[in-house]
Amino acid sequence: TRLETRLREIVAEHGALEGPLLPILHAVQAEFGHVPPSGIPVIADALNLSRAEVHGVVSFYHDFREAPAGRTILKLCRAEACQSMGGAALEREVQERLGVGWGETSADGVTLEPVYCLGLCAAAPAAMVGERLVGRATAGALSDMAEDVE
Ligand code: FES
Repeated sequence: TRLETRLREIVAEHGALEGPLLPILHAVQAEFGHVPPSGIPVIADALNLSRAEVHGVVSFYHDFREAPAGRTILKLCRAEACQSMGGAALEREVQERLGVGWGETSADGVTLEPVYCLGLCAAAPAAMVGERLVGRATAGALSDMAEDVE
């Protein structure tokens, strides 16, 4: 398939590096906007790794997504300062409003992703809607903003 051919090219471009998996995954995500699950066996074969190993790395790093993102990415900070300011309750409320879990995309095209400190700890809980940082975030404000972003 075309995906397979392109993945093999990307692997070949990075294969000589030491520890080529992360640079390869970054290149794949940059090109496709996500790391397609069907590409994992191709990458695993090419690097002599198991599929589980490659999948483990994709799911461990928050930079990688396994499905294309929606039109807006909403990131909620899950690091300590935000947790201590009601972050967990905010997460639950946002997930409920959007009807999605981490890494999922709502019917309105909002993809929810975790992030670990946005440098806005003084205004916790913090979030990011598209390119916009939001301090003292509330679920209502975030979902309104996420739905407004074009
Ligand atoms: Fe959330 Fe720093 S811990 S912005």
